[in-house]
Amino acid sequence: MDKAVIEQEVREIADSWKGKEGNLIMVLHQIQNRYGYVPREVSLVLSEILDVPLARIYEVITFYHFFRLTPPGKHTISVCMGTACYLKGGAEILGELEHLLCVKPGETTKDGQFHLEVVRCLGCCGLAPVVKIGEKVYGGVKKKDVGDIITQYSEDSEAKTAA
Ligand code: FES
Repeated sequence: MDKAVIEQEVREIADSWKGKEGNLIMVLHQIQNRYGYVPREVSLVLSEILDVPLARIYEVITFYHFFRLTPPGKHTISVCMGTACYLKGGAEILGELEHLLCVKPGETTKDGQFHLEVVRCLGCCGLAPVVKIGEKVYGGVKKKDVGDIITQYSEDSEAKTAA
């Protein structure tokens, strides 16, 4: 990305929240909407423009799970770790996805196909454990089903999906 372009875009975003309470969070939200994540070069520019230490910006980004430090994958896989899903094996499903995709929550596979994230209750606890890929919700997911589910999304992916 061109630094001058980033500077102009970030300045416009920052200006629109100037003087408002909680503006750093709102600016970061808008940055993520614009770029899909919060790139490091953008954080550097933001730090200069707002005169806020880079460490403070990263503190906010890492505190809120919503913010991403890497580009989102083509498919976002949300694993519910709310109480109902956790009690019905959500952690095991998450572990299987981490194993098959070789990523941790918050990361995107090297081929850019999948972004893995953990969420707290997707509002359909009766279907626990629940996994959502894009807009599609999978309920009653079992560890042995995980490979088949992601294979449906990975025709052009190099992600490992061996069952
Ligand atoms: S706890 Fe998973 S959907 Fe509610």
